Amino acid sequence: MPESKRTKLVACILAAGMGTRMRSSMPKVLHTLAGKPLLEHLLDTVKQLGVHETHVVIGTQAEQIEQAFAHMDNLNWVCQAEQLGTGHAVMQAMSTIADDARVLILLGDAPLVSADTLERLAAADSDLAVLSVDVDDPSNYGRILRGADGHVERIVEERDASEQEKQIREINTGVMVASATYLSRWLSEIDTNNDQKEYLLTDIVEVAANDNKKVLAIKSSDPDEVKGINNFSQLAYLERVLQRRQAEALMAAGVKIMDPSRFDVRGELEAGHDVIIDVNNIFEGRNILGNKVTIGANCTIRDSRIGDNCIIKPNTIIEESLVGNDCSVGPYARLRPGTELAPEVAVGNFVEVKKSKIGQGSKASHLAYLGDTTIGRGVNIGAGTITCNYDGVNKFETHIDDYVFVGSNTALVAPVTIGEGATIGAGSTITRNVDKGVLAIGRERQKTIENWKKGPKAS
Ligand code: UD1
Ligand code: CA
Repeated sequence: MPESKRTKLVACILAAGMGTRMRSSMPKVLHTLAGKPLLEHLLDTVKQLGVHETHVVIGTQAEQIEQAFAHMDNLNWVCQAEQLGTGHAVMQAMSTIADDARVLILLGDAPLVSADTLERLAAADSDLAVLSVDVDDPSNYGRILRGADGHVERIVEERDASEQEKQIREINTGVMVASATYLSRWLSEIDTNNDQKEYLLTDIVEVAANDNKKVLAIKSSDPDEVKGINNFSQLAYLERVLQRRQAEALMAAGVKIMDPSRFDVRGELEAGHDVIIDVNNIFEGRNILGNKVTIGANCTIRDSRIGDNCIIKPNTIIEESLVGNDCSVGPYARLRPGTELAPEVAVGNFVEVKKSKIGQGSKASHLAYLGDTTIGRGVNIGAGTITCNYDGVNKFETHIDDYVFVGSNTALVAPVTIGEGATIGAGSTITRNVDKGVLAIGRERQKTIENWKKGPKAS
């Protein structure tokens, strides 16, 4: 695209509709696709395109939408108080758009259109360029009516279409580009004389054609990229489309994904070489997997980094944690935010770790809770060990030095420190600090009562 065309290109995203068909209390454009709101997908795409300004038309639940994007700058929110149609929505934005701008109109509920396609549309040599696509089932979409010269003469909405027009399989995606001056002029000439009693943006096509302007329909080659979302079924469909694309990109980069149809990245996933990902894993936020990492089935991993040669066994949950090289985690383990595992650590089944650091080569193999704890290297945490870090009011820390052996079923009542090389007898409740190298046992001695007679059985 020539630079002059690009610098004056502004995006106008229509997102004021009520999204009635979602039957949801949440605004449609805030529903997520691969973990990202629909509107954000479009905002990222137009940013990639290098548009000069971005206008977003909102109406119902405007406050909620603005709040969700408060962190984004260079956004101009346009209010469409009453939803009188897509044409009316664009009219609301025109007063804030400079006359010499070219306007790229996008629908907030069609989030997957690519920057390449938009670039091609914006570069078209026309007064009005409409993005269209051929589909097998055109029902519910506006149909493109072309004249003998191939130029577009009209778009007819399904509700206003004749039986013959309904046969047309080239549909309107809703994406258009025209100069601001022409747009304002054409929009001033449309009316609500249609089945929906709304100002239909699509009606500007006929106005432009009658004005002897050149109206082209540029075809997208990928019906999925321009699909709109009006209900949860369509949202789920596009979710799979996007997940498949992400899986394909990772597989092309050498990641072995056992079943790309049971793989979900809701954010960004970076992976090294020889990574194997079994079925039903969900990656949320930003995750980094090192080389030769294996992830078993059914794990959820969020905002974490996993080092080289790690094995994450099935049904494990890892959140905001750092896992060093050569670790083994799971099955059924839970690493909560603030967990840091040094290399060669093993966290086994039904072990929960929260805001704790575990030193090199240490093991907590079964059934434990380690919270607000610092553990040195070479430590063995027995099955059933619990750090009692909460007294009902405040949280306290536990420190376990290098080479400590904690026997099974031990309660460590924080704040408490266990000195280097100490051994804690199984079944202990440890309430005081334990010195280096000693054996500490905190439990009743076992008693034996000889010749014990069982009582009579109640009748
Ligand atoms: C629209 C097109 C149709 C096209 C289809 C593609 C029109 C009249 N029809 O139909 O030709 O095939 O998209 O998906 O343009 N909106 C507003 N304000 C309004 C009404 C709608 O901002 O007053 C926004 C909605 O939030 C939505 C977008 O415009 O993001 C499209 O509106 P929608 O009602 O979904 O149009 P469709 O019936 O899908
Ligand atoms: Ca729609």
